[in-house]
Order: sequence, then structure tokens, then C-alpha cells
Amino acid sequence: MVNQFIKAYIQALVPYSTARDEFTGVASVYLDANENPYQTPVNRYPDPHQRQLKALISERKGVAVENIFLGNGSDEAIDLLVRVVDTPQGGVTITSPTYGMYKVAAANNGVSVGDAPLRPDFSLDIEAIRGASEKGSRLLFLCSPNNPTGTQYTLGEIKSVMDAFAGIVVVDEAYIDFAQAPSALTLLGEYDRLVVLQTFSKAWGMAGIRLGMAFGAKVVIDSMNTLKLPYNVSELTQRYALERLAEPVRMESEVREILSERARVVSELRRLSGVVEVFPSETNFVLVKVTQAWRAFEYLQGKGVIVRDRSKERGCDGCLRITIGTPAENNAVLEGLREVL
Ligand SMILES: Cc1ncc(COP(=O)(O)O)c(C=O)c1O
Repeated sequence: MVNQFIKAYIQALVPYSTARDEFTGVASVYLDANENPYQTPVNRYPDPHQRQLKALISERKGVAVENIFLGNGSDEAIDLLVRVVDTPQGGVTITSPTYGMYKVAAANNGVSVGDAPLRPDFSLDIEAIRGASEKGSRLLFLCSPNNPTGTQYTLGEIKSVMDAFAGIVVVDEAYIDFAQAPSALTLLGEYDRLVVLQTFSKAWGMAGIRLGMAFGAKVVIDSMNTLKLPYNVSELTQRYALERLAEPVRMESEVREILSERARVVSELRRLSGVVEVFPSETNFVLVKVTQAWRAFEYLQGKGVIVRDRSKERGCDGCLRITIGTPAENNAVLEGLREVL
């Protein structure tokens, strides 16, 4: 049972009850929350349970509302997962190189971090993951498709991870809308220890509103909701997300555009001298190994083109991570690299 992995005291907590919890119907006079009565789009507190938004997300994703958490970006979900999971011995496990926030969230909460490094080709090392589990780790973050490598793990690989790791496995799918293989959401019914994260920051183009999703077993989601700040998703965020969710066609066409640009950027990069390797990507960025990463990074910066130098990440020596932009932006980065390499 998944309950054993969630701190007992959190399961016993009673969440703070807001004015909006104690009265949820429709009234003509609201004098219960010490708000300013003069109407603007934001004079009232937002729905602390984001009911309308969750109902729509539930419909789109095919996941019941009670299995959905919404937060201030998926970063909030990452932080809360570190706080709710009970992992007294082995702490949190990550698979380097990967998204940096897992480590930061663990450190912020005084939780130790162990590494089950990816292999040199960025594939999963299942035995290393098993080893972390045997040492007592009960929370594993698996980023798929992975930042910064761009690699996506198959559902079969994720199942092998579930078998090897005896705790909560979080599959962070921030980039899933750019990927070919299906989402791990389809495995939720099979494993109550699985949590899937997605976000509106990438394909949906709403990084600025801060909205992330976690999908998982009710006890995990309830625990995250208990610990979150009552009004963690603002009124403006909820409204804007509802509007944009009503027009998925825009997101789909932008994703198509980004994928076609990704293919062009990859093939042009492969033709540049000074490019050692372009790693296959299932995301909206590419990881590229070049002969002089720092020089290239500084040169591009001097031209006002900012990419991410990932050289110091495990297994990423000499690597730049380049986000796919508009065709003109992509031309700017390609031109700069052509000049400097
Ligand atoms: C793998 C991964 N997860 C989560 C996030 C953060 O997402 P959000 O904007 O929803 O907090 C990022 C952002 O770069 C990311 O790369």
C-alpha cells in the first residue's frame, strides 16, 4: 500500500479550512473573508481547490479529480513530494544528469540525495536504481523526456524501474507534449506508487502563470493538498488556464512548428564543424556536444543569444543545451555557432 511511504503525521493532519471551504454555494452577499467588496477581476480569493480547472483537466487527461494536484508550477509539486514522502534512510534518488530542482528541493528540506547515474549513452541503469532502493531510498525522481539530455524512457523501462524501486516513483513529464512515446499516465491504474508530473510551462506556453500538475494515488494527492498554501494557484492563473485550455488547437500547431524546427536545427547542427554530437531529443531543446563549449557559449552571449552551458553536468562535458525557438531565433544560434566553431 502506498500509505506506508507517506509520513504518518501528514496523513493525520487536518487541512486549514478557508472561508471558501466553509461556504461553497452561490450567495449574493460575501462577508466571510475580509475581502474588499468593490469588484475587480481579482477582489475575491481564488478557489483553493481549483474545482473548475481540475474538472477540465480531469476530462482531458482521463484522470479522476481526486487524483489531481495543481500547484505553483510543477516545482511546487516537486517540493511537496519531498516533504510528504517518508524516506528516513536513503533519502531522495535522482538519475544524473537530470533536472536540477529535485536536488535543490531535497536540500531545502534537509533530505539527503543519492544518485543512480544514467549510463554514458543516457539510458537508465536499473541496477543502480535497485541499489538506491536497497539502501532505503523511498523517493525517486525520473525525468522523461529528460532535461537536459532529451531522452525519453519507454513505458517498459518505467515498469522495470517500478519493479526495481520499492517506493514512490515520480515521472516528471514536463516535456511530454513534444514526445513520441505515450505518457506514463496510462500506468497510474497499475501502480499506486507512481506519481506523474506535467506542466503548462512548456508546450502550452504558459510559464509565466505558474501552473503545474501532479497525478497520483489519493493519499499522495491529499497529503500534498494538506501541506500546500491554501490559495497556491491565483485567480488570474486559474482563469487564464481555463481560457487557453479551451483552444488546444493553438498549442498543437505550435508544437508541430517547434518539432519541425527541431528537426531542421538538428540536421544543421550535424553539418557544423566543431559539433561533436547532437543527442536525439524528444523535447523542445537539443543537447549538443561541441569542441569548445565555454567559448561558444560566451560568443553567443556576446551576440545576445543565450543558451545553457551544461558542461558541468555528469556525462555532459562540452555540452550546450539549446531551446528550439522561432525560425529566426534558431537561425541566430546556428549562425553564431557557425562563426565561433
Ligand atoms: C523537467 C522539468 N520539470 C519541471 C520543470 C519546472 O516546471 P514548472 O514551470 O511547471 O515549475 C522544468 C523546467 O524547466 C523541467 O525542465
